[in-house]
Amino acid sequence: MSFAPLRIGVLSAANIARAFTAACKTSTIVDVAAVASRGLDKAEAFARETGIARALGSYEALLADAEIEAVYIPLPNSMHAEWAIKAVQAGKHVLCEKPLAMDAAQARAMFAAAEAHGVYLREGYPWMSQWHAQETRRWIAEGQIGKLALIRSTFGVYFADPANIRLKSDMGGGALYDAGSYATSLLRLAAGRCPTRVQASWQVDANGVDLTTLANIEFDDGLMAQIACSFATAFHRNAQIVGDKGCIETNYLNHPPMGAPPVLSIRRSAVQTDPVENVPVPSGNGFLLEAESFARLVREGEAAWNGASPQESIDIAMTLDAIRASAPTGQWVNVGS
Ligand SMILES: NC(=O)c1ccc[n+]([C@@H]2O[C@H](COP(=O)([O-])OP(=O)(O)OC[C@H]3O[C@@H](n4cnc5c(N)ncnc54)[C@H](OP(=O)(O)O)[C@@H]3O)[C@@H](O)[C@H]2O)c1
Repeated sequence: MSFAPLRIGVLSAANIARAFTAACKTSTIVDVAAVASRGLDKAEAFARETGIARALGSYEALLADAEIEAVYIPLPNSMHAEWAIKAVQAGKHVLCEKPLAMDAAQARAMFAAAEAHGVYLREGYPWMSQWHAQETRRWIAEGQIGKLALIRSTFGVYFADPANIRLKSDMGGGALYDAGSYATSLLRLAAGRCPTRVQASWQVDANGVDLTTLANIEFDDGLMAQIACSFATAFHRNAQIVGDKGCIETNYLNHPPMGAPPVLSIRRSAVQTDPVENVPVPSGNGFLLEAESFARLVREGEAAWNGASPQESIDIAMTLDAIRASAPTGQWVNVGS
């Protein structure tokens, strides 16, 4: 089915919005039509650099703009809930950067506001719109690795510049909100449900921002998991999803092959000497796939969206809440308590 391109406005001249806008340039169903910044000069410079047609000097002006149908939010984490709610109240569909919110209560309020105003809100995890994520979902659902027993996912990158929003506690900084939301999204996709309890530990910097966080995670039926995330390591990203009849390994890349050679393998057997199938992963830009899936969601409805569902986003937020509650003491914390 063909339809008019979804006219998206970008809320802030964020660094990541450059990559998002560049990726959408090749799309025939997504039109990044405007950018808003806190200052008009900055918005105009960003628009010139990225080829966006219109620049606006405030976020409010973008939300009031009748031409804009949907908003992409790449603001600091602490601002996602406020601006997503303002956007849906203005009748805009919202594609919000991860982590969707600072906690599950905010996430629920955001989805409730979207529903009340008859628009879509989704959290963007580019890797989830990739073919490799769809294959991973399918293999698990078809029982190709049997009953899940153990999931381990990690993501680490190195950030040390104190000016970076990721290292500012009042902006929702920290490895857990950032890389940890990715590791938790892998866990949620693989498990297909929310965990029941977590036990975590972390290393926190002088400003109260976690630099490395580890969590043991349990589910109600015996499935066990671990996530690790860090801002103090070299880039690494991988996951093992292990059942009683097989194992999947993936580095769940956002934009294969960017950052690392893509890894996707499956052994459909519990036996060490049975073959592992290394599956070729098509290269593709995750922002393009995510934005096009979002455009189809708006034009064609729920079934067209291939990223995180609202329930998955709420479960990810609840899991992160429990990890944050556990890490200072290392005590087990029930998810949702
Ligand atoms: N999915 C991914 O692969 C991916 C990758 C990177 C980042 N992200 C997410 O995208 C978001 C933005 O990350 P980023 O690295 O692009 O951030 P960034 O470059 O620091 O941009 C954040 C923007 O927020 C606006 N802003 C409004 N109030 C601000 C304040 N008080 N302090 C700082 N900035 C403020 C600024 O835009 P104006 O000055 O134009 O108003 C700024 O350019 C985060 O939620 C992050 O988790 C996702």
